[in-house]
Amino acid sequence: MSYVLGIDLGTSAVKVSAINKKGEIASQQSSEYPLYHPQIGYSEQNPEDWVLGTTVAITRLILNNKINPEDIEGISFSGQMHGLVLLDAKNQVLRPAILWNDTRTTEECSEIIEKLGERFLEITKNKPLEGFTLPKLLWVSKNEPDIFNQTEKFVLPKDYLRYRMTGNLVMEYSDAAGTVALDINSKSWSKEIYQAFRFKDSLFPPLVESTAFVGNISSSYSTFSSLSTKTKVFAGAADNAAGAIGASILNSNIVLSSIGTSGVVLKYEKDPNVNYNGKLHFFNHAVPDKFYSMGVTLAAGHSLNWFKNTFAKDIDFDTLFKEAQLSSTGANVLLFSPYIVGERTPYADSKIRGSFIGIDSSHSLNDFVRSVLEGIVFSFKDIMNMYEGSGFDTIVSIGGGAKSALWLQIQADIFNKKVITLKNEQGPGMGAAIIAAVGLGWYESIETAAKQFIEFGKTYLPIPENYDKYEKIYKTYAQIYKQTKSISHELVHYRQEL
Ligand code: XUL
Repeated sequence: MSYVLGIDLGTSAVKVSAINKKGEIASQQSSEYPLYHPQIGYSEQNPEDWVLGTTVAITRLILNNKINPEDIEGISFSGQMHGLVLLDAKNQVLRPAILWNDTRTTEECSEIIEKLGERFLEITKNKPLEGFTLPKLLWVSKNEPDIFNQTEKFVLPKDYLRYRMTGNLVMEYSDAAGTVALDINSKSWSKEIYQAFRFKDSLFPPLVESTAFVGNISSSYSTFSSLSTKTKVFAGAADNAAGAIGASILNSNIVLSSIGTSGVVLKYEKDPNVNYNGKLHFFNHAVPDKFYSMGVTLAAGHSLNWFKNTFAKDIDFDTLFKEAQLSSTGANVLLFSPYIVGERTPYADSKIRGSFIGIDSSHSLNDFVRSVLEGIVFSFKDIMNMYEGSGFDTIVSIGGGAKSALWLQIQADIFNKKVITLKNEQGPGMGAAIIAAVGLGWYESIETAAKQFIEFGKTYLPIPENYDKYEKIYKTYAQIYKQTKSISHELVHYRQEL
């Protein structure tokens, strides 16, 4: 039996899946690693932990699940995006990696805008945000000049892991786009951007396609992991691009609705000239010369978890969803805005806060739970509205939103679109496996491999009378951000002051 390994290098853990030629999961192993917060707003990880964690998971697949290393023909990756790994002339790591959820670079983001203004948006199709890599590089150059002066190259998390497995150092386009130093149309590093900060050319690694062959497992990593040196390693993709492949977001008719701790609404884009003015992220896809756009609701599943832990600790999720079912469409007109940790899209505002609006004495726990479920979907609709007129007709729901028939129907009714689930949802690891399968030549393209590997599950259609009710309520919901902005900002200020 031949396998590919899809390695999903996440923020809290790495998950490795062995998948056969038909797309069936033979076995999976994962391994966790720590996240460090040396100061408020800082988020760092030790790249060595990624290498050790991955090796532990691979070794378990070989020893516990009896996957024969000789049967693993190819390996590829899905990587947490934007993390800055700095390497010296001998490719030794110079400091802990600064991750996507680190927010220390507000000043550097303003500096980028001051220097490059609208040109930045034209070249990268994005606004500089704290999470992205270029502001982090600038921060190190200003705050840790000794380390910066020793830096020969920077890479992203999965590039470092791949380097340790093969000895070869490259970056691929879907992750390079998230550095915001890439000219995403010409697929080359933007000199105009990096020379504005006097960064040297050699800092920027060679670029390849997601399915590019990077090398075989090196003999030193083979000794370390028991993998065979015959196994071929392919570049892989950013986690959102790999997740999109794993959910079959490979044409413009389908939009992804993913409810994790945070929520992502993501769309495949054929046309590089579509302009969201930086309101959505816009990155190169793992499919050559294609793109995707995405918006983020910072507290999606997190809002529901927070609500349950705070007000319904003793009730399990199944019962909570049953309670919500007993309420009505629109939660008896109780509104919830999920801005409990600030927001990213469409309102990039770290000081906005959440609210329940319209509470009256007839409301019960059922209504509150339902309003949380609906508020999260209303906030996705705020993002999805930017896609109106683009002709999409189907939404693939994954994550928490796909685990409850009620939440799936709420999505269909609020979006007024067909909502479908996946039969065997695997997330970005499946995308990584598909990339390896295509790299090996098992399939001629990502699209054909995805057809074989991914099966759609149930379909939920909008119920017209529910949609009519939600449309009315959504109009009121859509005013909450504007109406609560100054109150929220004042409260956040008091929070810091009092
Ligand atoms: C995307 C982003 C996150 C990370 C998580 O811009 O910051 O989704 O990719 O790994």
